[in-house]
Amino acid sequence: MKAQELYTKLKNIRVGGNVCQYSLKKCEELAPIVNEILRLKKEKDAVVLAHSYASPEIVYGVADFVGDSYKLSCDAINTSAKVIVFVAVRFMGETAKILNPGKQVIVPARDPGCTLADSITAEDVRNLRKQFPDHAFVCYVNTSVEVKAECDVCVTSANVYGIVEKYPSDKIYFLPDKFMGINLVNEMKRRKIPKEVRFWSGSCYVHEEYTGEQVFKIRCEYPDAKIVSHPECNAEVVANSDFVGGTEQMLEYMRKSTSKQFLMLTECGLSSRLQSEFPDKDLVGSCTLCKYMKSNALEDVLEALKAPRPSQIVTIDEPVRLKALKSLEAMFQYSSSVKPVVVKPSCE
Ligand code: 13P
Ligand code: SF4
Repeated sequence: MKAQELYTKLKNIRVGGNVCQYSLKKCEELAPIVNEILRLKKEKDAVVLAHSYASPEIVYGVADFVGDSYKLSCDAINTSAKVIVFVAVRFMGETAKILNPGKQVIVPARDPGCTLADSITAEDVRNLRKQFPDHAFVCYVNTSVEVKAECDVCVTSANVYGIVEKYPSDKIYFLPDKFMGINLVNEMKRRKIPKEVRFWSGSCYVHEEYTGEQVFKIRCEYPDAKIVSHPECNAEVVANSDFVGGTEQMLEYMRKSTSKQFLMLTECGLSSRLQSEFPDKDLVGSCTLCKYMKSNALEDVLEALKAPRPSQIVTIDEPVRLKALKSLEAMFQYSSSVKPVVVKPSCE
């Protein structure tokens, strides 16, 4: 890949604000690392899966698949490569390993945590199960493999509402996100689905930053802007959004919309993709960075392909993997033909 080619893809991106922009000089520095990664991918029979929150030079320089956690889970199943380099956080790499036990899965991140996944342990779930024996346990994909192993069905931001609606239990314990839990309660009411929904107390430190007040201000300042939010945002933000969905659905909404201005309430990686892929659309307001996702540098991807550190290689005990696989299989079973997103009446 030539530096000019990379620059064409990155030049409209301003990571985290107006000042952080890619120059041709920066792309000239990045291009040799990109090319070494592309060479090593072929040599090692590896594919790079990158979450939309990964840095733009990874998304546009070296990734074979880009998307949200649901799409990437499907991509992980469908690849025939021997090695999966998952540029994201630990729980996403674990999901790929659960589905591909025979492949080597590597997460290059220096700090692969997630405030949601780290908010609950398998022991917490076992205790909750004793407390609520009649409830079906639904885990968000942002959980460890040990937590998934204790639950009945896994969901992602792309299918949470549809799966909970369909799941054959009128008592649901949802974990770990309290905001998504409240949004779930509200959405079941909106859909007139009589389910009792309890939820855990975790939150995403990126999405909890957004407030109803900010949304209100943007509405006043930019009356034509469409406000698009992730279901990890709080209920006030969600209630005042034109569209709510997982990151891939947010992108699709923008692709199909005839509107010109948007406020995207999620991590900056998605805004970067939109700036690169839809240069004629205007993003208003600011985004927030996830330090865990952004701890995957291009150099870490290179190092992980050359000789991964033990901490970068995902390993899972087989009995735990088999139990967690059941909750993912249940997700694939119930996610066919689900209504995936909440669309407010004001939406196109
Ligand atoms: P998606 O499922 O939309 O990719 O979101 C994952 C995530 O971590 C959001 O913060
Ligand atoms: Fe976790 Fe939030 Fe980062 Fe997503 S954005 S990986 S939920 S901390």
